[in-house]
Amino acid sequence: MQETINKLLQFGKGILAADESTHTIEKRFASLGLISTPELNKKYREMLFTTEGIENYLGGVILYDESTKQNLHNILQEKGIIAGIKVDEGLESFNGTEEQLTKGLDTLDMRLKEYFDLGLKFTKWRGVFKITDIFPSPSFLEENLNRMVEYVKISIQNNMVPIVEPEILLDGNHTTTRCAEISVVVWQMLFDKLKEANIDLKNIILKTNMVLPGKDSGVKAAPLEVAEATLRSLEKSVPIGIGGVVFLSGGQTPDEATNNLNEIVKRRKDASWTISFSYSRALQEEVMATWAGKGENIISAQKVFLDRLERVSKARNGQL
Ligand code: G3H
Repeated sequence: MQETINKLLQFGKGILAADESTHTIEKRFASLGLISTPELNKKYREMLFTTEGIENYLGGVILYDESTKQNLHNILQEKGIIAGIKVDEGLESFNGTEEQLTKGLDTLDMRLKEYFDLGLKFTKWRGVFKITDIFPSPSFLEENLNRMVEYVKISIQNNMVPIVEPEILLDGNHTTTRCAEISVVVWQMLFDKLKEANIDLKNIILKTNMVLPGKDSGVKAAPLEVAEATLRSLEKSVPIGIGGVVFLSGGQTPDEATNNLNEIVKRRKDASWTISFSYSRALQEEVMATWAGKGENIISAQKVFLDRLERVSKARNGQL
């Protein structure tokens, strides 16, 4: 597992999240007037994965189950990019409230065995945490984080690196301070539970949000502010010895996600975590719009994709 982590997060490299669920890719395509079908999803993802040179910037790609059935992991493996897989099965209501728990534990062990046989080497489990004046509630935190820890155990038992993804949502009108407060609570509780379960923390990667003001707050934080708030919160709650920290883009624009990452890496202490990216929207928004479902746009879309990857890779090194 250490070899996998080292390859995923080596200097200049990070992870592409191409693991949109059926519903999410439907939404992304619909915003461009496209109708998602398994065939069109395959064409789109094939275009991403066959882009020449992506192996210089990507250590790994997170897939969705549909793509493994279409054998898309083979394209990545031939380029020396490690293929991984989203293994949660989405969300379900928590006691009829607005809070949503992640589901998918029941069949997890069986599914991981199949994925391992395909050569997939890591997994991802996303939990979402909504910020309001009253959420996240203590009982929700307890249940959702217990599920995450259970997932981590099963992934490690199957020799697949777990990427544990608590996402504190950008939705809402909260302040940066409130986002920092909730991020610290969630990360601290998660790591306390992982330690209680005797998980060897060097084998796990934390994928999480940057600390930002809510998207409806009317406030835009500058990269320096984002970097300081994010690093301060991580330092309070995330042990140094874990496999690494990768950020999701969470609804930031491609430029925001790139510039904020650059500032975080520049300002982190030398002896802290390996930090990198695991973006979906910030890496795909531009390429998807340029492609727009048309074969004749593939070459220009691939160029747009590679340009963004190059910038994010520089940001991952703090070299922008
Ligand atoms: O689960 C969410 C993805 O892995 C990250 O997506 O970069 O669009 O937030 P995002």
